[in-house]
Amino acid sequence: MSKPLLFTPLTLRGVVAPNRAVVSPMVQFRATDGVVNDFHLVHLGKFALGKFGIVFTENCAVEPRGRVTQGDLGLWDDGQVESHRRLTRFIHQEGALAATQITHSGRKGSTARVFDKRGQFGPDGAGWKKWEVVGPTDKPAADGWLVPRALSVEEIEGLVAKFAAAARRADAAGYDVLEIHAAHGYLLAQFLSPLSNTRNDLYGGDRAGRMRFPLAVARAVRAAWPSHKPLFVRVSAVDGGGGWDVPDTVAFAQELKALGVDVVDCSSGGIAGAATAAGVKRGLGFQVPFAAEVKRAAGIATMAVGLILDGPQAEAILQAGDADLIAIGRQALYEPFWPVHAAQALGCDRDFEMWPPEYGWWLEKREYTLGRR
Ligand SMILES: Cc1cc2nc3c(=O)[nH]c(=O)nc-3n(C[C@H](O)[C@H](O)[C@H](O)COP(=O)(O)O)c2cc1C
Repeated sequence: MSKPLLFTPLTLRGVVAPNRAVVSPMVQFRATDGVVNDFHLVHLGKFALGKFGIVFTENCAVEPRGRVTQGDLGLWDDGQVESHRRLTRFIHQEGALAATQITHSGRKGSTARVFDKRGQFGPDGAGWKKWEVVGPTDKPAADGWLVPRALSVEEIEGLVAKFAAAARRADAAGYDVLEIHAAHGYLLAQFLSPLSNTRNDLYGGDRAGRMRFPLAVARAVRAAWPSHKPLFVRVSAVDGGGGWDVPDTVAFAQELKALGVDVVDCSSGGIAGAATAAGVKRGLGFQVPFAAEVKRAAGIATMAVGLILDGPQAEAILQAGDADLIAIGRQALYEPFWPVHAAQALGCDRDFEMWPPEYGWWLEKREYTLGRR
């Protein structure tokens, strides 16, 4: 059998992803002051051992106010860089590319952890406190959410500079790939969507006005991020049930491509409440058609994400030409060694050679003991 596309390297500008399996960004609420700690090293390090080609950290806030919870990682301060360096060193040592995602939560900041019980706000005894949240307007994400303060034009311009500064820190920390989070109803998505952006100034109004801030961020980040390193943007391809839709995403992707963005990571939903509260029907690979449409219509590489569970499913998406990269979220939590399992399922690593040799040597010998060889 020829080598599956999933395990074919992908060159992105001056860096090479050893394969197409990517750990999707997943926030863990375990940080203090946005700093990477032992938990993050072990949590993300195991995905590098499992041979993901690109290992994404969770979203990293560009300012403290831009965190979703007080336990999120950050890149708002030079003092945070060294902690990220320890992580990127380990990921590189195991042969993967290290990637991070920069974000601002906007009106969806200052929340409890998703699994916190009613009345609980963060881990027991951690003393989490609420902070003021901001947005395109003073309209909350949904009933019961914090009421944001509408950002002034000067503040928007200041945030563009903060995204660029975070990109410079990501470079200094040793990341190879950077993603701007413009999805799931966080600040940049709040500006894109007509459901949340009802401003009537330069940064609101028609689609061009609503795209102005996210595109300014992409432009500034591209200028701050080294030209040999790839830049991704995650989008909610549709709000679901009206609002921002696929033709808007295609238009946005065309603009991003012109600014030097390399990959559009196609997610969906989240504009009016929790990231998971999307008016989008879910099923296996439900967002793949968005990645396929953006790739075809905007002529830009895409990453598919969302209920992609196993190697054959991932390989079929790549073979169909629907996406260039496959992001694995919850299945990576369930199965941190997903790529090497996928290789077994695709029959392309009979001798366990993709595994770390300290594991693979034993697993191959075990095949004989079990009488499978
Ligand atoms: C625990 C958890 C945390 C997440 N945090 C982020 C995040 O920081 N940034 C982001 O863009 N998406 C985040 N997501 C969404 C995932 O990256 C992914 O898009 C989503 O889980 C769908 O993919 P899946 O079906 O493979 O899990 C998170 C998802 C989970 C389960």
